Amino acid sequence: MKALVLSGGAGTRLRPITHTSAKQLVPVANKPILEFGLEAIRDAGVTDVGIIVGETQDEIRAHVGDGSQFDIDVTYIHQPEPLGLAHAVLTAADYLADDDFVMYLGDNLIAGGITDFVEQFRREPSAAQILLARVRDPERFGVAELDDAGHVVRLVEKPKEPVSDLALVGVYLFSSRILDASRSIEPSGRGELEITDAIQWLIDAGDPVQSTIVTGWWKDTGKLYDMLEANRIVLDSLEPRVSGSLDADSEVQGRVVVEEGAELINSHVRGPAIIGKNTRLENTFVGPYTSIYHSCEISDTEIEHSIVLEETVIRDISRIEDSLIGKQVTVGREPRKPRAYRLMLGDHSRIGLA
Ligand code: G1P
Repeated sequence: MKALVLSGGAGTRLRPITHTSAKQLVPVANKPILEFGLEAIRDAGVTDVGIIVGETQDEIRAHVGDGSQFDIDVTYIHQPEPLGLAHAVLTAADYLADDDFVMYLGDNLIAGGITDFVEQFRREPSAAQILLARVRDPERFGVAELDDAGHVVRLVEKPKEPVSDLALVGVYLFSSRILDASRSIEPSGRGELEITDAIQWLIDAGDPVQSTIVTGWWKDTGKLYDMLEANRIVLDSLEPRVSGSLDADSEVQGRVVVEEGAELINSHVRGPAIIGKNTRLENTFVGPYTSIYHSCEISDTEIEHSIVLEETVIRDISRIEDSLIGKQVTVGREPRKPRAYRLMLGDHSRIGLA
């Protein structure tokens, strides 16, 4: 069995962060989302991993390399344009050949990995095996309709009026029949070859399609609030560890990781939270559900329920909540008159002033 990981896509819903970075590399609890997926695939015993890349390919390649750091063997497959998930499958046709494969959307996070799901498919092979999760906003996803016996009868991509609250999770198991299906369908209203339509084609052709409903949490990290929620969930299971240094006036409480080289000076971190390598906190409070990545400098600030990316500087702000702050950002106060907000913001930035 092979794996096909989808790491193309423009990540428009996470702009401006994704103007400069691949959405799959935004960290959750200081670990790029994509790494959770690659580790789940490896843990399920799959080591041949094709990664579909698009316009952010340089960054993905630089980060994942040949995959040896994750004990997998990576082949990159370039999808020139993001024309849908079934189009990505067709782009990978030579790589996939006749093998069964697990398809994993690189911005999805799923509790407990995918080992049970993959093993079930190995025991009972079918043309497709899908994972479903109950959600409050099914119109954002592919939605499944089951019959009384629990068989999938219909799948609709982002329906305006969903027939159920069962969303398609971004992890799928396929036999090579999905290639026939993907070749047979037409682009959807949004101009994409939808994997949902390809699976529907299999159902209509009488091919066996199995489904499992996930019981643990699952997150598609497409939007800011999904990112913050995924960050909360992952931080909640952190193993506390202090490898950095705290001065006599600093304190950590609860589930907190302070990485090597991080320094706390007259600062207080209340977990769950993680402070990355070589980050320096001075006269600062970091509240629950906050991830500060490596090499940041934060002083005279209170921050909670937020994600801060690498090499960012924050000075004298009370207080920051519900925020995702990119790399090498500077947020601070200036003594200069007239007192005013002086901003240099990237396209699609969002600012919420108190
Ligand atoms: C894609 C699929 C959708 C699925 C979702 C899961 O949506 O088309 O069926 O429910 O992933 O993350 P997209 O993220 O491309 O909007």
